[in-house]
Amino acid sequence: MAIRNIRRMGEDVLRKTSKEVKEMTPRTQILIEDMFDTMYEAMGVGLAAPQVGILKRIVVIDTYEDGECFVLVNPKIVQRDGEQTGDEGCLSMPGKIASVTRPNHVICEALNENMEPIVVEGEGLLARAICHECDHLDGILYPDVANESMRDIEIEE
Ligand code: NI
Repeated sequence: MAIRNIRRMGEDVLRKTSKEVKEMTPRTQILIEDMFDTMYEAMGVGLAAPQVGILKRIVVIDTYEDGECFVLVNPKIVQRDGEQTGDEGCLSMPGKIASVTRPNHVICEALNENMEPIVVEGEGLLARAICHECDHLDGILYPDVANESMRDIEIEE
């Protein structure tokens, strides 16, 4: 188990296009494990490899709903339907949120940690997380597609 350093908005690595994963190596398996550890430690619902400084097309997602925990290697969103508008955050911009409109339903083709093809269908939060994390692989951050400027999260007491 290893927690990696999460890169913050403003760092160049978050603006680069990540490369496809050609084969699963022990090094990449460790990266995936570390990405889950790092995401859970930061209490996030998703993390993309460039957020830990690695330009590989890998994302991890866990919405904390049953069966909604995945690693997606070389993900491609092949279908988008509907619309949802709601607040979104990112571990690379801690303490901030903004309203983002996303599809309410997506179908995503990817490979799993064994490089086997999988199809993930997501609605609501899972659809939002898939879109957000896939954007990271192309250097897109949510403020680029948000309906407003980022604002501070208000802490309710
Ligand atoms: Ni993010």
